[in-house]
Amino acid sequence: MDVKQAKITAVGHYLPEFRMTNFELEKLMDTNDEWIRTRTGISERRILKDPDKATAFMGAEAAKEALENAGVDASEIDLVILATVTPDFLFPATACLVQNMIGATNAFAFDLSAACSGFLYAVSTGSMYIESGRAKKVLVIGSDKMSSILDYTDRTTSILFGDGAGAVLLEESNDGTGLIDQIHHTEGDTNCSLYQHAGGSRNPATKETVENRQHYITQDGRAVFKKATMGMADVSLEIMKKNNLEPEDVAWLVPHQANLRIIDATANRMGLSSEKVMININKYGNTTAGTIPLCLYDWKDKLNYGDNLILAAFGGGFTWGAIYLKWGIK
Ligand code: UT7
Repeated sequence: MDVKQAKITAVGHYLPEFRMTNFELEKLMDTNDEWIRTRTGISERRILKDPDKATAFMGAEAAKEALENAGVDASEIDLVILATVTPDFLFPATACLVQNMIGATNAFAFDLSAACSGFLYAVSTGSMYIESGRAKKVLVIGSDKMSSILDYTDRTTSILFGDGAGAVLLEESNDGTGLIDQIHHTEGDTNCSLYQHAGGSRNPATKETVENRQHYITQDGRAVFKKATMGMADVSLEIMKKNNLEPEDVAWLVPHQANLRIIDATANRMGLSSEKVMININKYGNTTAGTIPLCLYDWKDKLNYGDNLILAAFGGGFTWGAIYLKWGIK
């Protein structure tokens, strides 16, 4: 089989207008701006207030912007992959709703669930369709309305997350830029360190599950922090070594935005100075599948054709991974 190379040819995003600052959270729970900023790096996050809008809406807006930036009509899309842990419904897939909202009438569509690593897993999956020649244009979307599963009485989790979406268009590359390597890992989390316990087939919704607040995200922060710091740094180094990349060869680290301390630890282990690290956690918090494409969107005007980027993430599952790509937009 003639193996092709996939590259990102456009980026889009969506962020809700409402900014929830740390000071707003101080009014809701026993927390404070100083604690949140120093422990996480977050100052504010966006929240989708409109009750009629959710993950599909944000994903569709991000996808439409990516298509517009690429000058591609939605009817040309072959495949839509949407990474999320906050689907509009358990089924049908949110990707199907997006496919309809954007008018991608010739595309098939499915969701991918890998929590904070969802966007990386989805880019890897999408790239395989391009590389095999089975698809020419693939939309990969990371979208999460985290506020829909946050317990605002739990200060240990609700301060961390925000809502948002990012999207990229993958197309065939013919100039040597694009996705070069990808490494992914999984370790089933038997200790339930990062879970939403109810709402699935194991614990369907009942009066009790609602009363026990089991439809919200719960996290053993310290345990996840340790795993995430090790996992994201290890896999980033692994992909650098595998591709003989020295720190000076890497133009940008594009890390999942869960905690500034995790990002700093990863950059240190890679030998990268802070100027080479994309950080927007201060503005958006952790948007789960949205963080990495939102970084790409925010930095798109600073990226140079041919830049070496390492994308890295760690999340629930546990799932983690890294992608090495050469930026291919001129
Ligand atoms: O993206 C998916 C993967 N998720 C992650 O990677 C998140 C990983 N975990 C983390 O980022 C951090 O563990 C947290 C930010 C969640 C917590 O930071 P920490 O430095 O690990 O704090 P801690 O859990 O060890 O708590 C330290 C203290 C505790 O008080 P005591 O027991 O020392 O008296 C907490 O009760 O801070 C307290 N605390 C808070 N205080 C003010 C916990 N949350 C808050 C809060 N405001 N929001």
